[in-house]
Amino acid sequence: MSSLSQKHLLGIKNITKGDIELIFKTAREFKQVINRPIKKVPSLRDITIANLFFENSTRTKMSFELAEKRLSADIINFSASGSSVKKGETLLDTVNNILSMKVDMLVIRHPAPGAAQYLSQHIDANIINAGDGTHEHPTQALLDSFSMTEKIGNLAGKKVCIFGDILHSRVALSNIFCLKKLGAKIRVCGPPTLIPKHIASLDVEVSYDVADSLKWCDVANILRIQLERQDVKFFPSQREYTQYFGINMELLNNIDKEILIMHPGPVNRGVEITSEVADSNKSIILEQVENGVAIRMAILYLLAGKK
Ligand code: CP
Repeated sequence: MSSLSQKHLLGIKNITKGDIELIFKTAREFKQVINRPIKKVPSLRDITIANLFFENSTRTKMSFELAEKRLSADIINFSASGSSVKKGETLLDTVNNILSMKVDMLVIRHPAPGAAQYLSQHIDANIINAGDGTHEHPTQALLDSFSMTEKIGNLAGKKVCIFGDILHSRVALSNIFCLKKLGAKIRVCGPPTLIPKHIASLDVEVSYDVADSLKWCDVANILRIQLERQDVKFFPSQREYTQYFGINMELLNNIDKEILIMHPGPVNRGVEITSEVADSNKSIILEQVENGVAIRMAILYLLAGKK
């Protein structure tokens, strides 16, 4: 397979296992490129990409920007704060105005679930979803699975537990779709109030027991508590959350095997994970960030100009 099945990357739900494998193969090649003294290739020369961030970001925004620069694309950056969105302009009007400046591809992060999907029904440019509300974050899931594969090989039959705030997490949903396509076994673990009721329909195990889930898994992907998306209280206090659901070294020392520790960032040190765990040799948090650039280069390269 040499081409993706889609012209956009809107989510993981609608891409194939073949698409994921092609993205990984291409990312492995680009990872070699960005570890060379000359890190740039001309693959996207004459392609113009707009990065539209309607929501805050550090990793995803900088990673896309760097990936685009490594591929020699021309780029323009938009953030909602300071734009005419504040004057009432609609999303579609904003995007159509940007596209009229001869932009070929869009990377969009937006607080509304379905924003990238909605745009794909109205515009021709290739679109990459960089996170849409609580819905999907496909590039994060791809870089997470790619990073797991680098460390533990083929994911078929491997056990991955996603810990924490599953309810508000686009990373959890995209990871579940991606890991399922790659044949992994998946468990989610967190307080009952932060585990959505429909989760069983995705064929994942549910546990409320952190110690047992750490013993069960080969990979622990630990998520941040998204207080900014919680308008009601889902647990009594942050201290109580940490006491019952935080991952610390004592818990890890009580299991008789090595597991990989992952976190998509941003990390709330001392809340869902202690600094000792986040900075330990079990953690691949910064390797995830490194792999994000190669994964995004691969996606941009494979989608550019695709009809
Ligand atoms: N993991 C992630 O999406 O981080 P940012 O919000 O900083 O982009």
